[in-house]
Amino acid sequence: MSPASDHIDAMLHETRVIPPSAEFQSAARVSREAYERRYRQSLDQPDEFWSEVARDLHWMKEWDRVLDWQEPHAQWFVGGQTNIAYNALDRNVQRGLGDKRAIIWEGEDGRVRTYTYAELLREVCKAANALEELGVVAGDRVTLYMPLIPEAAIAMLACARIGAVHSVVFGGFSVSALADRINNAQSKLLITADAGYRRGKPVTLKINADEAAKLAPCLEHILVVKHTGIEVEWWTEGRDLWWHDVVDRQSDRHEAAALDSEHPLFILYTSGSTGTPKGVQHTTGGYMVSTYLTTQTVFDLRDDDIYWCTADIGWITGHSYSVYGPLLNGATVVMYEGAPNQPDWGRFWDIVQKHRITILYTAPTAIRSFMQHGEEIPGRYDLSSLRLLGSVGEPINPEAWMWYYRVIGGERCPVVDTWWQTETGSIMLTTLPGAFPSKPGSAGLPMFGIEPALMTREGEELGADDGGLLVIKRPWPSMLRTVYGDDERYRKSYWGEIQGVYFAGDGARRDADGYYTIVGRVDDVLNVSGHRLGTMEIESALVAHPDVSEAAVVGKPDPVKGEAVVAYVLLQDGHTADPAALRAHVTREIGALARPDAIYIADALPKTRSGKIMRRFLRQLAAGQTIQGDTSTLEDPAVLDRLAVTQPL
Ligand code: WTA
Repeated sequence: MSPASDHIDAMLHETRVIPPSAEFQSAARVSREAYERRYRQSLDQPDEFWSEVARDLHWMKEWDRVLDWQEPHAQWFVGGQTNIAYNALDRNVQRGLGDKRAIIWEGEDGRVRTYTYAELLREVCKAANALEELGVVAGDRVTLYMPLIPEAAIAMLACARIGAVHSVVFGGFSVSALADRINNAQSKLLITADAGYRRGKPVTLKINADEAAKLAPCLEHILVVKHTGIEVEWWTEGRDLWWHDVVDRQSDRHEAAALDSEHPLFILYTSGSTGTPKGVQHTTGGYMVSTYLTTQTVFDLRDDDIYWCTADIGWITGHSYSVYGPLLNGATVVMYEGAPNQPDWGRFWDIVQKHRITILYTAPTAIRSFMQHGEEIPGRYDLSSLRLLGSVGEPINPEAWMWYYRVIGGERCPVVDTWWQTETGSIMLTTLPGAFPSKPGSAGLPMFGIEPALMTREGEELGADDGGLLVIKRPWPSMLRTVYGDDERYRKSYWGEIQGVYFAGDGARRDADGYYTIVGRVDDVLNVSGHRLGTMEIESALVAHPDVSEAAVVGKPDPVKGEAVVAYVLLQDGHTADPAALRAHVTREIGALARPDAIYIADALPKTRSGKIMRRFLRQLAAGQTIQGDTSTLEDPAVLDRLAVTQPL
């Protein structure tokens, strides 16, 4: 059996139940009784429930109505006005947290920079004034293409403060992926850095920004943070500006804009099963309330926690749980720019030890890499400050869960496995620590206000222990509002697949205790090292290469990455295969994260008579399985036999 089906099998047959320690349980923010009561209230009296949570935060004007739902469009806290940056900063300073550390940043080279809440507020005010000086006004889009440095969070918060809509593009994306995203959002400003560090080497972001700018005429300015100090070769006078020239001289006072609750906060591009990446659009009030509540309850947050979410701000986890959620709660957030194996595989544990981290939130792919390098490495560090561990981004196999729990958590820290998506904005399913026992491999129970179900494609609801499609039956505050510029795609992809419910695109099961176990995507979305990629995007990148006439991309189970990219490629007549060139091409079109691990040169693809590529069979081949299923619909079933004996390049 393949590793993936092993994983799934292991998850479905996992019977271990791991309760939180009595000590954790007795001090937990949410007890089992409190969860049950509040969860009930959140479904039966949602207006009361959400109003109570929202009142913890500051509103310049209170809402008239909690929810206006005209399927598939929701508005939350209708008529209310607020500002998420004000709530993350000014409000916390006013609560007396001005001297508390907001961000502890560590560079790959070991440099440490710290900002208190009062300092962060001043920096964000300066950046907000700078954006206004550059002519950015509420509603304008600003693209960020940055390393994981404090200025990235400062830039996000500065946008939020004036009502500009940020669109963060992960620094690992290529020029053309960046240009597409700038153009789709029609951003007038790009914020970047000279370079970032990765494995000891500077990664030149400004050069990519220049190349992207050539393809994106909407850009008026590029604001550049000097981070590594490498020489920046190209500089377009008038267009390019140094952050330190423009931001540093600004006043450190700025009045946060009172924004409509439904004012757009950010766009974040993510992959779907078809076409180009979708600009997932989130708005202000609901996203703020959901990220605030989930960070507080899922991570059992206390005043003295030192919280580290290892996600890059280029992904939703970085938005909701490195920046907004923890800062709204006045937490101390650790940020680390760099690779987990720099200078060696002990780096994460060195950071935990040095900063006395209490809460660690990371991805299964990272945990599996650490496992591979052995428990002696973490064993060299003092990890006793940790009290809670979290997992996000992909299914965690019970073996990795147990390793995380035992080796990193010392069998003392609950592990919260959190299921959610770019589109959901905040955590949907998890096992609240202290309230419920964990079941390794199973995400757990719904968060407040979330009403999940399992259904068939036809919309028939399934009972416990039946595998089905995971759906959510009612809107929640942090759900995406639309796909930027393409509301039709929003309707179709999320509320049009199954009538009347949100379609997540994941398959899942539920056990007798109501715990959900996510089995994986049911569409053509891959999850490579916790990064979402569309097979179609990689296929279009491949066919754009002059040697290639056709391509089909599938995922193959990988013991560390979860899934690896496998490409089946048909060459143009008379062309020879150059796998290095094809990999380089995909890296150029999308980014290194999409580079195929294996490339098979095929003479034909398994297609039905109507021309549809049967990726299901390719997935089985890539996993080294024997073909299962009816191949009689194929135009030429012998294609599979030939592919089965083809060696990958
Ligand atoms: C997968 C990341 C199992 C799932 C926050 C989902 C998970 C996709 C988990 C969203 C988990 C995320 N267990 N699978 N705890 N968390 N996924 O948009 O397939 O980058 O649909 O958001 O990742 O990925 P995205």
